[in-house]
Amino acid sequence: MRASPILYLLSLLLLSLLHRPTFAHKKSYVVYLGAHSHGQEVSSIDLNQVTDSHYELLGSFLGSCDKAKDAVFYSYTRHINGFAAILDDEEAAQIAKHPKVVSVFLNKGRQLHTTRSWDFLGLEDDGVIHPSSAWKKARFGEDTIIGNLDTGVWPESKSFSDEGMGPKPSKWKGICQTDEDASFHCNRKLIGARYFNKGYASVVGPLNSSFDSPRDTEGHGSHTLSTAGGNFVPGANVFGFGNGTAKGGSPKARVATYKVCWPPVGGNECFDADILAAFDMAIHDGVDVLSVSLGGNPAPFFNDSVAIGSFHAVKHGIAVICSAGNSGPDDGTVSNIAPWQITVGASTMDRQFPSYVVLGNKMSLKVTSHIQGESLSPKALPNKKFFPIVSAADTKAANASAGDALLCKAGTLDLRKVKGKILVCLRGDNARVDKGRQAALAGAVGMVLANDEASGNEILADPHVLPASHINYTDGVAVFSYINSTRSPMASITFPTTQLGTKPAPFMAAFSSKGPNTITPEILKPDITAPGVSVIAAYTEAQGPTNEDFDTRRVLFNSVSGTSMSCPHISGVVGLLKTLHPTWSPAAIRSAIMTTARTQDNMMEPITNASHFKATPFSYGAGHVEPNRAMDPGLVYDLATNDYLNFLCALGYSQTQIELFSEGPYKCPKPLVLTDFNYPSITVPKLTGSITVIRTVKNVGSPGTYTARILEPTGTSVSVEPKMLKFKRIGEEKTFKLTIKVRRSSAGRDYVFGKLIWSDGKHFVRSPIVVKEI
Ligand SMILES: *[C@@H]1O[C@H](CO)[C@@H](O)[C@H](O)[C@H]1NC(C)=O
Ligand SMILES: *[C@@H]1O[C@H](CO)[C@@H](O)[C@H](O)[C@H]1NC(C)=O
Ligand SMILES: *[C@@H]1O[C@H](CO)[C@@H](O)[C@H](O)[C@H]1NC(C)=O
Ligand SMILES: *[C@@H]1O[C@H](CO)[C@@H](O)[C@H](O)[C@H]1NC(C)=O
Ligand SMILES: *[C@@H]1O[C@H](CO)[C@@H](O)[C@H](O)[C@H]1NC(C)=O
Ligand SMILES: *[C@@H]1O[C@H](CO)[C@@H](O)[C@H](O)[C@H]1NC(C)=O
Ligand SMILES: *[C@@H]1O[C@H](CO)[C@@H](O)[C@H](O)[C@H]1NC(C)=O
Repeated sequence: MRASPILYLLSLLLLSLLHRPTFAHKKSYVVYLGAHSHGQEVSSIDLNQVTDSHYELLGSFLGSCDKAKDAVFYSYTRHINGFAAILDDEEAAQIAKHPKVVSVFLNKGRQLHTTRSWDFLGLEDDGVIHPSSAWKKARFGEDTIIGNLDTGVWPESKSFSDEGMGPKPSKWKGICQTDEDASFHCNRKLIGARYFNKGYASVVGPLNSSFDSPRDTEGHGSHTLSTAGGNFVPGANVFGFGNGTAKGGSPKARVATYKVCWPPVGGNECFDADILAAFDMAIHDGVDVLSVSLGGNPAPFFNDSVAIGSFHAVKHGIAVICSAGNSGPDDGTVSNIAPWQITVGASTMDRQFPSYVVLGNKMSLKVTSHIQGESLSPKALPNKKFFPIVSAADTKAANASAGDALLCKAGTLDLRKVKGKILVCLRGDNARVDKGRQAALAGAVGMVLANDEASGNEILADPHVLPASHINYTDGVAVFSYINSTRSPMASITFPTTQLGTKPAPFMAAFSSKGPNTITPEILKPDITAPGVSVIAAYTEAQGPTNEDFDTRRVLFNSVSGTSMSCPHISGVVGLLKTLHPTWSPAAIRSAIMTTARTQDNMMEPITNASHFKATPFSYGAGHVEPNRAMDPGLVYDLATNDYLNFLCALGYSQTQIELFSEGPYKCPKPLVLTDFNYPSITVPKLTGSITVIRTVKNVGSPGTYTARILEPTGTSVSVEPKMLKFKRIGEEKTFKLTIKVRRSSAGRDYVFGKLIWSDGKHFVRSPIVVKEI
């Protein structure tokens, strides 16, 4: 049915009446025009011509070039073609129709993937996944340049010391952009630093000169960059805990920072226009690897600055690693889902910081009989001394609700009821460290932080301001019922220790965003999981370890959790692969990492989720990274730029859009089947009867004969043809067909999971098979 034209006109009139008098509805937009090849060897005159062409294009809509010049605040001139400008909705809609325009989208904010760090400030370890043999083989990632898009860097951190580093690589074209910060210095380790704030300013208004610096005043960027490529720093610890040698995955790599994230506005800190500018510059500067621990909600590719920027980088041979997001454990929450990105989930390590809660009815101090929590609190209760323990709900102030008091929110606790006691606070709503602070302000001697049901067994060691222990859900229930069971409940909290080799590890973090991929369900995301719970790495000295204003403590290293922290673990491993195999494509590198991953924990059991259930590929992709094995995967599932274009074509993107995107003539091959895209995982989201998918593997190891083994997803039968692949030389490619048949219709019609494994006896090339019958 059609809307009445008169009503339509009326509503337009109304709308214009509502909007015209103010300019408030002018917004900042990105106008994306596709690719360029002005990147490497061009003069500034050529770049100016590109900018002029942007003014001309926009001027044709705004009425004059001068108006266009006023509106444009970024002109992307090197590898990414486009500009960012202040426009109204109508102008944006008109421009989007121009044949040279791929897409027009709002300069939206994105989040660093520790937005839950308020929830998840914790502490742990690195080191566990980086066996020295891989480091040695790949010479600690030397020759590789790793960049990150983040909150900048704290250049004074020892993780960025250039001790033992040779001269800067000659291919490097980056700079150290220190306009307003004379104290900021790059060196032979930290070889580049730039900042991008115009997109941020277009939303928040004019910025003062303190924003003209790549310095990290937040901590996140120093943490991620040092996790990917930080130098060796002996004696690194947080309040003495987890003492050891800090190091990145590629400790001898060079690093560069691209600061695109600023103090949050409305929960967002990194804006699209800045992100695109940073990608364009990083490609120009000559990075080999880009680590991107930020993202937004999943969006169509041409509306997603991280997807667009990543595509252009990958086209230039740069591997782009992105965090999956911290919106788990719900299904369908994974972001950064483009098939040219490497998407990383987060799981635990085998190190904990146990701090025991000893209840008064357990008289002996035999540790096995205590409740094991975790903490990073540098404060201790007097040894073996017991204190009254009370549920925070029972200490509520007269003007507060018991529910808020139980969460230990500000202003909800009655000091007279709390003083001198151990307070039990429930997890949720306000930051964990804030609960500790409220307890301390109310006069508590200690805090037991008990998980709510949703957080299950996921406990974190936080740098609390009072003696504290974070315990799991079942233990929390036990503590509450102990308090109910006795007239004068008593308890103690032991000082945390550092414990290694804990089991099971890894298990998936509850916060780690999960598949299925909501934009293209045929591509399994995340691709891989890596440690992202309580990771210790370099930090800023501009803030305390809890990032809260009340925290005046300063630390050189901090423990942080999030997929933001797991992402640079993979970036570090990619750095090693780049050094060892400089000619491999980003897709071959991803394939090597995925097909060598493991899906068992250190008890030889399937990797579980945070409540001890078997986790699935929607949590961990191909599995947990195994850097040693990734160096020698045997076979890879490779992809070139054209394969990605074919993928877009199969998704229904127009030939014109794809030609602009790729800068050049492109013809969609037909027929084209999305499930045949040569990805290292196989996902069939809509199976009816049977399907045959095609894959091609390339030999990158010794000559050999590979045979297929299949673990069939429940209710299906899977066959492969041929069953044997014989390779005589390196670089040889073989194609095979995999047929999946519904054997018995599963009642629930839920996703089922299996595996394809090619092996020559020495290499095991594993691909997850993910199927849903409709
Ligand atoms: C892309 O962004 C534009 C501008 O914000 C918006 O109008 C359009 O709906 C978006 N497209 C999709 C598919 O989200
Ligand atoms: C610059 O602006 C920030 C944020 O508005 C403010 O916190 C800071 O004090 C200002 N710095 C200077 C030097 O004016
Ligand atoms: C950390 O370890 C180093 C080397 O083993 C040692 O010298 C240092 O005292 C330790 N620091 C702490 C705080 O335990
Ligand atoms: C909770 O922690 C205790 C250790 O105190 C452990 O024995 C138990 O298995 C955990 N419960 C769950 C559901 O993980
Ligand atoms: C309760 O009253 C106290 C003291 O007047 C105040 O500080 C606090 O914010 C109030 N709390 C709530 C939840 O209103
Ligand atoms: C303890 O008692 C309170 C009421 O006093 C009740 O709400 C709570 O469910 C009880 N907890 C347990 C674990 O028994
Ligand atoms: C773990 O998996 C089970 C079974 O799928 C699910 O019910 C539970 O919510 C999951 N827990 C977490 C924390 O992911």
